[in-house]
Amino acid sequence: MISKKMTKALNQQISLEGYASFLYLSMASWCDSEGLEGCANFMNRQSEEEREHMLKIFEYMSEVDAHALTPAIAQVPHKFSTPQKMFEMVYQHEQKVTKSIHSLLKIAKAENDYTTENFLQWYIMEQREEENLMRSILDKIKLIGDSPMTLYYIDKEIDAINDLEVKADAKGE
Ligand code: FEO
Repeated sequence: MISKKMTKALNQQISLEGYASFLYLSMASWCDSEGLEGCANFMNRQSEEEREHMLKIFEYMSEVDAHALTPAIAQVPHKFSTPQKMFEMVYQHEQKVTKSIHSLLKIAKAENDYTTENFLQWYIMEQREEENLMRSILDKIKLIGDSPMTLYYIDKEIDAINDLEVKADAKGE
């Protein structure tokens, strides 16, 4: 059994992961409407991953006899002006998620909650990878240039990154 404080904090994390899933789905839909198929593929996959992150917490809370709450998701934006602006928003959201995971870990440590501390290690690693991925995408966009003339190349690059991620997932990396 975990503490009430930890239960509340994990439910807040569920909400954050759920918001990320909807935000990335909205981004995928915007990319699709702009003809950016590669970016749409990438964001759809990210949206699914965030749903998995959320469900992992549901599963964990069930295992430790805590009540996981299905969150109300705030309205996400529908328009993102350019791929660069969109990925900047993704990066910012990932940084927010990382901070939140670190806060959870702080609570677990303070409460000598070794079980939750152990559970959170996976998220620490995942956030390091996600922040790194988003930073490298932003670096690429900056190199290519975020103008109507270069959108085609940006989309191709993001699609290639998505393919690599899919292959890595298949290998269990
Ligand atoms: Fe589950 Fe990317 O935060």
